[in-house]
Amino acid sequence: MKILGIESSCDETGVAIYDDEQGLIAHALHTQIAMHAEYGGVVPELASRDHIKRIVPLVRHVLSEAKLAPKELCAVAYTAGPGLIGALLTGAMAAASLAYALDLPCVPVHHMEGHLLAPLLETPAPQFPFVALLISGGHTLLIKVSKPGSYEILGQSVDDALGEAFDKTAKLLGLPYPGGPLLEQLSLKGKGDYFKFPRPMLKNQHCNFSFAGLKTAVLNAVLEHEQDLESLKPQLARSFTLAVADTLEVKCRRALKLTGYKTLVVAGGVSANTEIRSRLTELMHKQQGQAFFARKEFCTDNGAMIAFAGMQRFKAGQFGDYKVKVFPRWPLSELKALS
Ligand code: KG4
Ligand code: ZN
Repeated sequence: MKILGIESSCDETGVAIYDDEQGLIAHALHTQIAMHAEYGGVVPELASRDHIKRIVPLVRHVLSEAKLAPKELCAVAYTAGPGLIGALLTGAMAAASLAYALDLPCVPVHHMEGHLLAPLLETPAPQFPFVALLISGGHTLLIKVSKPGSYEILGQSVDDALGEAFDKTAKLLGLPYPGGPLLEQLSLKGKGDYFKFPRPMLKNQHCNFSFAGLKTAVLNAVLEHEQDLESLKPQLARSFTLAVADTLEVKCRRALKLTGYKTLVVAGGVSANTEIRSRLTELMHKQQGQAFFARKEFCTDNGAMIAFAGMQRFKAGQFGDYKVKVFPRWPLSELKALS
């Protein structure tokens, strides 16, 4: 069975085809980063208009790459939320129209479930149960995944999402939007932990995070070192990254202890960060367990994760009608179990 997946929740249009026997057979992505960079962040109306232009050509592209006729698909999956309402509507409308015209089921997918399951596209894939750390532009979540589709939130950020903290810190260092990947490049030029920024909320015995204070600590350091700021930027980026990595390590260790699980799945845009990947890999090595990540290309938004999650929901018989419904806010814990 081959499913088409459409992602359009924010500033990336992603389309892919997943085959439950052969795996991923085609994927394509158009990123709007250059368009939004000029404004320093995503402009929702521009995002929606651009998705409208991109979806159909990308669908044509993946069908031809997979050498498939539309009728050979078993269903059409799309991101139904959370995300920007206009952007979500473009994908939902395209998916519902296509599914209706082809007389196929239309499968709404939760964007964060897409991220969470993306590491399952890799070989070897993680086995259930596991703890999932979801770190993206809008979410920071630690989740107990006892079985497919069952998501119990163990902790989350009480203020900024981690990706947001990366982007805001990058902005303080004069880097363009989205600054996360550029901040990573800058941090590679830094050495040691020059600034020793605070590690927020480590003493509390829960799995929640707070990143707003860390960002403010960077701001204070920037203001204090106005004279020699340029030469200190790599150190600032490095110290910020180390504070984040330490925090994630402690909170993941706590979640693993709480659940007794030995598998950690790390997903979402920020999981592309090399320091974070190596730190959590090391942690799981020490815990005699294993950490799993998506390939870097599938850490940030993409169609493959929506096609894959869509296939799981489709197989569980969870698909809707052709009503165009989107959910800009949609807690992951509201999803039905998959088995
Ligand atoms: O998952 P994603 O593509 O979109 C959301 O669902 O939010 O995540 C985007 C976020 C942005 O904040 C971006 O700066 C961050 O992920 N990001 C990174 C890296 N690559 C992307 N942050 C740190 N290091 C990276 N290498
Ligand atoms: Zn995302």
